[in-house]
Amino acid sequence: MTVTAEPSLATLFDPANRADPYPVLAGLRSAPRTELDGALVVVGDYRNCATILRDPTVSADRRNSLLGATFGDTPDEVPFDSFLSMDAPDHTRLRGLVSKAFTPRVIANLEPRIREIVADQLTKAGEANAIEVVSQLANILPVTIINDLLGVPARDHDILQDWSHRLVRGLDPATDLGDPVVLADIELAKEGFRLYFADLVAFRREKPADDLLSHLVRIEQDGEVLTEAELLATCALLLVGGYESTANLIANGVLALLRHPDQLQALRENPGLASAAVDEVLRYDTPAQMVTRVARREMSVEGVTVPNNGVIMLLLAAANRDPAVFSDPDRFDLRRGANHHLAFAAGPHFCIGSSLAKLETSIALSEFARRVQAPELDESLLTYRPHVNLRGPERMFVRFDNITN
Ligand code: HEM
Repeated sequence: MTVTAEPSLATLFDPANRADPYPVLAGLRSAPRTELDGALVVVGDYRNCATILRDPTVSADRRNSLLGATFGDTPDEVPFDSFLSMDAPDHTRLRGLVSKAFTPRVIANLEPRIREIVADQLTKAGEANAIEVVSQLANILPVTIINDLLGVPARDHDILQDWSHRLVRGLDPATDLGDPVVLADIELAKEGFRLYFADLVAFRREKPADDLLSHLVRIEQDGEVLTEAELLATCALLLVGGYESTANLIANGVLALLRHPDQLQALRENPGLASAAVDEVLRYDTPAQMVTRVARREMSVEGVTVPNNGVIMLLLAAANRDPAVFSDPDRFDLRRGANHHLAFAAGPHFCIGSSLAKLETSIALSEFARRVQAPELDESLLTYRPHVNLRGPERMFVRFDNITN
């Protein structure tokens, strides 16, 4: 396989660079560059990414951007019209409503269930002395937790997982959105979500339970409730956000630990490092590699002009390896104290599920380190998901001696 470090978006999107995009990202970080006749500016250094994410004059609403459909962002192509792509005041209102239901207590209460799922999955894998980490640990944990949280019955988890997989292709700039088959597939997944959650919402209006969806249905703030459309979009956002990136984080974490046995050993000997380990994985192999914003006025980044309504692509994964902020950034080091990474973005759209993702991943990684004895990764069978943005392995086979209790 030829891997090239030529810094352009085309090389970043090249499947040959999927396994290790970091040389290309390093090239893209060195200076902002324009693409698509100046309608897109790609930024990868930490300082500018952090500043732009917090800039109130920059918008998350991509509907009127100069790029339109190219990035799947015209109204018809938006996978779900959620508050992820809104600005104040609608963004503030909806995010505030969701935060009321998605409290630190709700998340802390999930810990026993997270521990139970991780324990069961590792114990099951112990029977075969082997584990396919993506399906047997990384996917199943966040899928189960977010579905439990929303009150989706277990029998429907598979279909929602399938829709989620299809839908995220619409969020990926490397997806060929000009291909009618791909678009039809994304459309079907969107419709599936909409119909499914419309039914579930109706059911929860009739029979409220103690789940997040019932809370969202009930929530009122300043006399306002979420409209049906907002509620459905929020369900899809929480499900997709809660599942895809967390699964990638867990898989990226197990992979990084297996490739750095000294760090795996350090975590095994000191489970107190689990939270730092999660931050280091978020920095080192960032699960959501980029976000986009739209300039609402002409602006300049390091002398490069972004036109009004031009799109700015912020390469979070490049910023997280910026040597100006993280010394020896390509080194995986649990003890570096990397919690100022930008993996959850920053500013008004900072990830609402960051604590849940960190809790799930710290338990998964520390239990893997503690219980799996003499793990050996089969590098020859490692494959990556096709996405350039939501980055993570598709299959990862690990053999081991045994699983302790
Ligand atoms: C490792 C796991 C995760 C990563 C890397 C991640 C990453 C991100 C990033 C980068 C953003 C900002 C997007 C932007 O600014 O355009 C974001 C926003 C968001 N995330 Fe996450 N996320 C993760 C887990 C979760 C979980 C577990 C949930 C929910 C259960 C979630 C729900 C959301 C929501 C609702 C937003 C939109 C926030 C807003 O627009 O105000 N995420 N996430």
